[in-house]
Amino acid sequence: MTKAITQKLYQEMMDKAVEVSKNAYCPYSKFAVGACVLMDSGNIYTGCNYENGSFGMTICAERNAIGTAIANGDKKVKAVAIYSPNKDNCTPCGACREVIHEFSENDENVDIIVKIGDDIKVLKLAYLLPESFNL
Ligand code: THU
Repeated sequence: MTKAITQKLYQEMMDKAVEVSKNAYCPYSKFAVGACVLMDSGNIYTGCNYENGSFGMTICAERNAIGTAIANGDKKVKAVAIYSPNKDNCTPCGACREVIHEFSENDENVDIIVKIGDDIKVLKLAYLLPESFNL
């Protein structure tokens, strides 16, 4: 993909992450998050965070989106866009980095897309998760 096509696609993914963040269920933290994943197949899936009164049961937006991808038979992640209205540069938490890694063929080729004001920034998963855990 050319840089221009990638930029347009990543912007569209970020728009979807913004949209789905509006469905977040976050009565405890009041911190809404939306995520949009692009799979190897070209399919994209979205997810938002949903919390629980038993706090540890909370599911992050990224893991929700990846769960939907898996349920649809897509297992290779290419890129993930993450957005929170509460915070610029909302990068995935450590747990979500490991889950993204689980479904990545090469962390050097997996793009993590975050929003800073009206701009998007692209980071490699390998940069965010050096020395990942592997069985
Ligand atoms: N959260 C996410 O959805 N993704 C992350 O990568 C970090 C945190 C959610 C979990 C919780 O509902 C809220 O943000 C505050 O931690």
